[in-house]
Amino acid sequence: MRKGMVGAFLNVKGANNVRKLQEIAVKETRLGIPLLFGFDIIHGYKTLFPIPLGEAASWDLAAIEKSARISAIEASAAGINWTFAPMVDISRDARWGRVMEGAGEDTYLGTKIGLARIRGFQGDDLSANNTIAATAKHFAGYGFAEAGREYNTVDVGTSTLYNVILPPFKAAVDAGVQTVMNSFNTLNGVPATGNKMLQRDILKDAWKFNGFVVSDWGSGMELTDHGFARDLKHAAELSANAGSDMDMESYAYVTYLKELVETGKVEIKVVDDAVKRILRVKFKLGLFDDPYRYCDAAREKEMLYNPAHAVAALDVARKSIVLLKNEYVKGSGINLLPIAKNQQQIAVIGALADDKNSPLGNWRLASDDNTAVSVMEGLKKYTSNIRYAKGADVVRGKTEFGSPVTVNEADSSGFKAAVQLAMSSELVIMVLGEHGYQSGEARSRTKLDLPGVQQQLLEAVYAVNKNIVLVLMNGRPLAITWAQEKIPAIVEAWQLGSQIGNAVAQVLFGDHNPSGKLPMTFPRSVGQVPIYYNPYNTGRPGPKTEVFWSHYSDESNKPLYPFGFGLSYTSFTYSNLAIHDEDPANIKVTVTVKNTGKLEGEEVAQLYIRDKTASVVRPIKELKGFSKFSLKAGEARQVEFILTAAELGFYDNTGTFIVEPGEFDVMVGGNSTEGISGKFTLK
Ligand code: GLC
Repeated sequence: MRKGMVGAFLNVKGANNVRKLQEIAVKETRLGIPLLFGFDIIHGYKTLFPIPLGEAASWDLAAIEKSARISAIEASAAGINWTFAPMVDISRDARWGRVMEGAGEDTYLGTKIGLARIRGFQGDDLSANNTIAATAKHFAGYGFAEAGREYNTVDVGTSTLYNVILPPFKAAVDAGVQTVMNSFNTLNGVPATGNKMLQRDILKDAWKFNGFVVSDWGSGMELTDHGFARDLKHAAELSANAGSDMDMESYAYVTYLKELVETGKVEIKVVDDAVKRILRVKFKLGLFDDPYRYCDAAREKEMLYNPAHAVAALDVARKSIVLLKNEYVKGSGINLLPIAKNQQQIAVIGALADDKNSPLGNWRLASDDNTAVSVMEGLKKYTSNIRYAKGADVVRGKTEFGSPVTVNEADSSGFKAAVQLAMSSELVIMVLGEHGYQSGEARSRTKLDLPGVQQQLLEAVYAVNKNIVLVLMNGRPLAITWAQEKIPAIVEAWQLGSQIGNAVAQVLFGDHNPSGKLPMTFPRSVGQVPIYYNPYNTGRPGPKTEVFWSHYSDESNKPLYPFGFGLSYTSFTYSNLAIHDEDPANIKVTVTVKNTGKLEGEEVAQLYIRDKTASVVRPIKELKGFSKFSLKAGEARQVEFILTAAELGFYDNTGTFIVEPGEFDVMVGGNSTEGISGKFTLK
């Protein structure tokens, strides 16, 4: 540090720790340049919010922005001035563990959510002491890893690159994101960290990005593993010349960049440009005016775990819960949910129900284990007639961090007690799914079933008591096809962070009407993956003949639950679709939505288009608008969407954005498969 060779740290936290290091940088180095302190604030710092995929299910941009804002308030109070978030990688492959970290499969939704998170982190004044620099990551294509296997090859066509993968990054750059992180993967044969087309031609030249690019961990060094660089020195040369401005953890630049400049392999203007970009961010953060603005230990004490943050965490957690199924049990005539508060004898089964740690989710580096309100703790606030049996364990899986895991995931010795408890109870709440560390980085899976023996436990309990509410806790879509056929009520509760127990209990007992919608398709079987709501139509979309059409012989093409799907304790109808296409630059679509049930509830009205004929085929539908609002029982409102060139156009195979006249279908509804339709012709 004192030699001036360190410009930034990651994973240093605490106002006093940061102050100590900042003082050395400012007072004991030749130029006194303040340091950046980066950290992965992915879904909270101390107060933890739902994992990003879960939070995306809220479709509530204000709530999502607020959770990023609070995360920045807590992190900045602890000295952090830069977060490696939001992750804006689109992915259609639930086998990939990092789907938990993004906003799902859709470019439009992922873009809107990425922008909400950037607004939350960066605020409207980056020099304030409670705003931090955000990072759009991972640039680019990481979510398309072949076979969903972590760190694997990415090979996509121009249309997928420009129409699916890049738009969230371009929107982030246009919105002023301060940094971009490149990615571990090759993109069409060229590793992203050494990819000049991505980092210079597209990001810095075409998009005029004026922040800086940071590599991802050791991605610079990994250019040798990819077979792209001869050695670390060559990796440093290739990365710097390709536009990777800061080397996170390869020690490539600090070791070789000076020599590379002296031998003419890297021109000094490349280094000057990178330095300028990094200094520009430090200036914008106000670090040159006051290097210690993030080093106030009193503010840190006041902000971390501030009670007001728990209130916000509960609010967004409730809004992220998706009701997947809610039917009555034969003969009862009433839906299983919400649970009547008349003190039914309730059995709660599943290790995750009593787990205060796993529901915190995967990216909780700065927080503290076992700080979640468990589901059991939440439920006990509603009834004392509740008993618990673990039934089976959920194993965190391999990890370098923390103690090795010894739990036996195949152990079914707990079934007997669980089945007996279910037999002596009127209602069973089963909490099943994945441990928080069974998704996330380096957690790809080849199966999308309930891990371990949880499926067998579910079937054993079902055999003695069919009044089951299944609460899922998971970091990715799961192929719970058996459960969908048999279990009367299913709730998707992701890993909702610190307040999961209160959020789940308030939904199950009806104090909050669920309003979440899936940001990612749930498959019927892992064999369908990648499966998503908006594929191309293909030349044989439907059964024109017995077998010669695009289908599987052993599985339906249909998902288990489609993108945008989510039920409510009330019901909504859509009517009066009207399309005003007089002005082709501003096409207005209006629809009436009515709450036809007995309870107030929130709905997410979604607008999808289809460009029927184009010079590059377009998907069978594309989300191009959504609106979330609340309606009282019986209340109706008109919802308006505006379609402009930005929504109707697409990138052609030269990467040029074009709008082509022609016929468009429009559908507005409560998910991607149901709604009322219309059409218009773009002149
Ligand atoms: C990790 C992740 C990246 C994260 C970085 C720093 O490997 O890929 O998303 O920000 O390293 O922790």
